[in-house]
Amino acid sequence: MTQRGIIQLDEILLDPPFVHRNGTGVWGLSEDVLRYIDNTLKPGDKTLETGAGMSTILFAVRSSEHTCIVPSEQEIHLIRAYCRRKNISLDHVHFIADYSQNVLPSLARERSEDLDLVLIDGGHGYPVPAIDWFYTVPMLKIGGVVIIDDVQLWTGLELKRFLANEDAWKFVRDFSRSTAYAKVGQEYAREWSQQPYIVRKSRLPQMLYQLRSAVGLILKGNFSELASKVRKYLAIG
Ligand SMILES: C[S@@+](CC[C@H](N)C(=O)[O-])C[C@H]1O[C@@H](n2cnc3c(N)ncnc32)[C@H](O)[C@@H]1O
Repeated sequence: MTQRGIIQLDEILLDPPFVHRNGTGVWGLSEDVLRYIDNTLKPGDKTLETGAGMSTILFAVRSSEHTCIVPSEQEIHLIRAYCRRKNISLDHVHFIADYSQNVLPSLARERSEDLDLVLIDGGHGYPVPAIDWFYTVPMLKIGGVVIIDDVQLWTGLELKRFLANEDAWKFVRDFSRSTAYAKVGQEYAREWSQQPYIVRKSRLPQMLYQLRSAVGLILKGNFSELASKVRKYLAIG
């Protein structure tokens, strides 16, 4: 980490950019993630984030070749104004003013597998974090890291639990409300039966479905079909 980096992140933390809530506040990343990004990034690294704020300014300070996808023109304007005031160059930051779910599918087709870091911190409603992850995977290089913010919310937490059970992803570390995983393999859209987390989470709903079907057959007095299903289930038929 360079001395320049420490001073500039500390400055951002002491005088944060009010870019959210109509310019009255900031829903910034927690300090531990910001410090991780500050310590990890090398100049010229290629990065992408969904959402914008303190993180965008840090990516600018660290001079990464950065893509920021955020629908709010006002937030982009406030980030530009803050950077002007602090003399921070945005030369390496490319803003795309749109929702990530609109932009990422075509970006994923155009861009090669060259990203070093992806930050998922845009929309937090279902299924936006999963969409952000799905379409950024092909752009992330092997060894590259994805940070998922707000794993205290179900949408982020489920994504984290899913990655924790996939061989193609290696746990890097947890933060106060974020997590980081490194891409170590190419598999990412396998059929559900090949995804250990989905298999485990589907067991109970599948059993309940079978139970409901069995009760339905009993109520209809259809015992031959019930017997055939039970034999099939026990693999003895
Ligand atoms: C929690 S804030 C991001 C905080 C930022 N990482 C920081 O360090 O300050 C969430 C951001 O996501 C943006 N956003 C909301 N829905 C989005 C979507 N569907 N695609 C991209 N960005 C979205 C909001 O405009 C806001 O900038």
